[in-house]
Amino acid sequence: MADQYAVFGNPVAHSKSPRIHTLFARQTGENIEYTSYLSTEDDFAEDILLYFIAGAKGCNVTVPFKEAAWQVADSHSDYAARAKAANTLKVQTGGLIYAANTDGIGLVRDLQQNHAINLQDKRILLLGAGGAVRGVIQPLLEAKPEQLFIANRTTSKAITLAKEFADLGAVSGGGFADIGGTFDLIINGTSASLQSALPPLPAGCLVAGGVVYDMMYGSQAQGFLDWGKTQGAAQCLDGLGMLVEQAAEAFYLWREVRPDTAPVLAQLREELAS
Ligand code: ATR
Repeated sequence: MADQYAVFGNPVAHSKSPRIHTLFARQTGENIEYTSYLSTEDDFAEDILLYFIAGAKGCNVTVPFKEAAWQVADSHSDYAARAKAANTLKVQTGGLIYAANTDGIGLVRDLQQNHAINLQDKRILLLGAGGAVRGVIQPLLEAKPEQLFIANRTTSKAITLAKEFADLGAVSGGGFADIGGTFDLIINGTSASLQSALPPLPAGCLVAGGVVYDMMYGSQAQGFLDWGKTQGAAQCLDGLGMLVEQAAEAFYLWREVRPDTAPVLAQLREELAS
């Protein structure tokens, strides 16, 4: 029987994770089955335990359960421990649950490897202070930017979050009104686009020829990427590559086999367009 994996979320029907992991399995010859499960805040911890008791080997966790996934685990990777959020769980010998957070690795790999963007000594503006942003701060700081400024609608959340990571690099936080100077890269990690809204950014905060990146993909990323175009961005990138790269890192954690992400990303891009 194939080893069982899944993604837990709410909503989850739209998730591309089953498609991505099925393509990885086909490419690498790994004998896995990957499906999706809808859960609820009340049932999540029990759903996970029952799923693992039934013999599953691991799972991904998406919105809104990343903090709950961190809580349910017995041990954590460095990134998950610091983020207090996990997107990947793995069952270890003895049934203990290990939690990892591969979101930030996915983002940084997409930027650096897929798009050849150098982050070192760059000024990065990170928008949002929710679960999506929590997971990417440490890997971004490890790329040694000159500054990482976290801006959020609720100012206090950005300030608190920045303080949690302040020992790892040059990170500070504030409200949108506190955004000062220009940035080489602006990353949108808010869920504003779900309400067809844009974070209120001051005109001119992107350097000429800078990069804008939305952690969402397809039509949900479009509004922010269009704003980037009006600001003279040289590259306007959605988060499909981050999604595929975080999945590849989870697959590697489970199977110790690293899939080739390029053909899978190309295939997903084609499917998204049609
Ligand atoms: P996720 O896990 O997707 O990050 P979340 O934890 O609910 O979801 O966080 C959503 C983020 O988007 C928050 O930073 C939120 O700002 P607040 O902390 O002020 O709530 C941000 N956000 C949501 N709607 C927004 C909007 N219309 N404009 C700006 N920011 C918005």
